[in-house]
Amino acid sequence: MTQKKLTIRDIQNWQGKRALVREDFNVPLDAQLNITDDTRIREALPTLRYLSEQGAKVIIMSHLGRPKGKPSPEFSLAPVAQRLQELLPAIKVHFEAASLSENTQAKIAQMGTGEILLLENIRFEPGEEKNDPELSRRLAALGDVYVNDAFGTAHRAHASTEGVAHYLQPKVAGLLMAREIEALSTVLNSPQPLTAIIGGSKISTKITVLENLLDKVRHLVIGGGMLFTFLKAQGKAVGNSLVEDDFVDTARQLLGKGAGKIVLATDVVIADAFKADATSKTVAVDAIPDGWMGLDIGPESVAKLQSILQQSPLVLWNGPLGVFEFPAFANGTRQIAETLAQLTEQGLSRTVLGGGDTVAAIEQFGIDPKRYSHVSTGGGASLEFLEGKVLPGIAALDDASVPVA
Ligand code: 3PG
Repeated sequence: MTQKKLTIRDIQNWQGKRALVREDFNVPLDAQLNITDDTRIREALPTLRYLSEQGAKVIIMSHLGRPKGKPSPEFSLAPVAQRLQELLPAIKVHFEAASLSENTQAKIAQMGTGEILLLENIRFEPGEEKNDPELSRRLAALGDVYVNDAFGTAHRAHASTEGVAHYLQPKVAGLLMAREIEALSTVLNSPQPLTAIIGGSKISTKITVLENLLDKVRHLVIGGGMLFTFLKAQGKAVGNSLVEDDFVDTARQLLGKGAGKIVLATDVVIADAFKADATSKTVAVDAIPDGWMGLDIGPESVAKLQSILQQSPLVLWNGPLGVFEFPAFANGTRQIAETLAQLTEQGLSRTVLGGGDTVAAIEQFGIDPKRYSHVSTGGGASLEFLEGKVLPGIAALDDASVPVA
């Protein structure tokens, strides 16, 4: 069953209406609070331009990071407001540093139609992550129509992503949200066999996803730091490689359940320290010496993975295969990124990418995201969607009138 929802295009007349829009502007910042990857802001532009052109007043809510319910300057959305203004030079972008103050309503009343007001980080409010009805009601009072465009946060039932929708009608999907739902539903409902490549270091946050994906895939490729917990579960010595000891048993169970589906590297690039200029060499996965750590998959593993991908009509990729930030350990991630782009261009695979690190990797390699079928702005959200879970931020929106099988 496809979760088809009303979208902003289904609203007949936006003129003068207050569109209360949830975006996911949770973008990475460096120590100087410069945005290091603005993909999520750029992906929101079609929705924001559309609403502005239609004459709505656009009030945007977003979170950034995890400030735990209180204001902290390093999580301010001020750099996002600035970038938004640069990206939309023809539209006036206001920033409301004291969100939800008594002045906020007055500011919105004074805004011209077509203008944008970005509210300060909604997670500065203690009620946001608790999905507090009182906060939801206060947010709802700022708009006439609720628009959720924050696919990346749709797996969170928070006041700005779910609660607010109970107090505002209509509640519709933004263009980015609609595109994500369509692309990922297509993947989910396709009868074609799925190959999932799941990388990254956070096994503790991905293990449930791995368990749930196991039923849906033909191949489940484990990469990145997670690999070493699985190798340890196989009884291999992994030296100083990243291992989450609490998850070794779980990894062992998963290997049992996923026999014939789970694909692990057979060789790895190891280093004598976690740094860009560390001494490195390639060894078999059962020959990692004491004191060394695995930071990438090796060439034999890349070749094996490429041959799997060449026979995979549908591929989900979430999470880098190695420490791609260090050039010496970027080869596995780069080769797979390039292979997937080529297979997409040749019409051999439909490729769906997700996760902030995956997007950062292809950007670092200079690979145009348009070379893939779909690059999701969601990490956890896209994987939960692909597990078949109903995401609360989507469930809260109005169903499209035409039922879709
Ligand atoms: C993300 O980056 O995955 C989303 O913005 C959600 O952020 P969260 O994991 O802090 O809820």
